[in-house]
Amino acid sequence: MIVDNIENNLFNYRFPEEEGFLYGFNLYALINGNDVLLIDSAFSSQARQVKKDLTSKGLRLTHVLLTHFHPDHVAGLIALDAEITVLGSPEYEKTLTKDIPQRVTAVSFSDGFQFGDFNLAFTPAPGHSACSILIDINGKYLHAGDNLMSRYDGKAILPWVEFSELANHISSLEMLKEMNRDRIILGHGPELFGRKEVSQAIDDRLNYLKAVFDTAGKCSHKEATAGCSCEFAGNEFFQKLIAESAN
Ligand SMILES: [Fe+2]
Repeated sequence: MIVDNIENNLFNYRFPEEEGFLYGFNLYALINGNDVLLIDSAFSSQARQVKKDLTSKGLRLTHVLLTHFHPDHVAGLIALDAEITVLGSPEYEKTLTKDIPQRVTAVSFSDGFQFGDFNLAFTPAPGHSACSILIDINGKYLHAGDNLMSRYDGKAILPWVEFSELANHISSLEMLKEMNRDRIILGHGPELFGRKEVSQAIDDRLNYLKAVFDTAGKCSHKEATAGCSCEFAGNEFFQKLIAESAN
């Protein structure tokens, strides 16, 4: 686990990819006095390590905000107190398959959420999951969840999406591109910094998704990625998508 103090009261807990795993994990901790709001929880192992580090600093985990409710983001809740306030999309029940000890409070897309010095605003971004949201932090950072994924060496990971959700994922990425942001943080992989890098990263995923969508899944991996500037990890996500297109 690597702990980065990004700026005052904002920490990135980073878990690089373990041997044989496609992706690692980012958990972001926002500090308000002694209280902590954590964005995503990864699995129990990562959540426990973060909790231990926070406790050693005299801090108390009070909130967990989920970018979405896939197991690699919510399963860590099992290792955390039942009293913690868990926040996420109003659509969370469409995705949440695990029993978690906490009750989920739906975020408001109109009012946002204030946590100490942090103004958080939320935008629905369905596609990767029905409950995916974008989280704006003080107008400076945008957490894009798993709309974009990469490895910590910067290698892009193919989007994970169900075939029936391709159009939604494309729409959410187009919306993200139009936001014209220059600091994008992710559930998996390093921060994307600068409009050029952000725009290219989004275009690479869009070109892939559109190629699969436009051919109704009748394309090779080479054809699907022909319009991309990068090579992707995660070929199994392509195989899964093509298999679903045949059903
Ligand atoms: Fe994920």
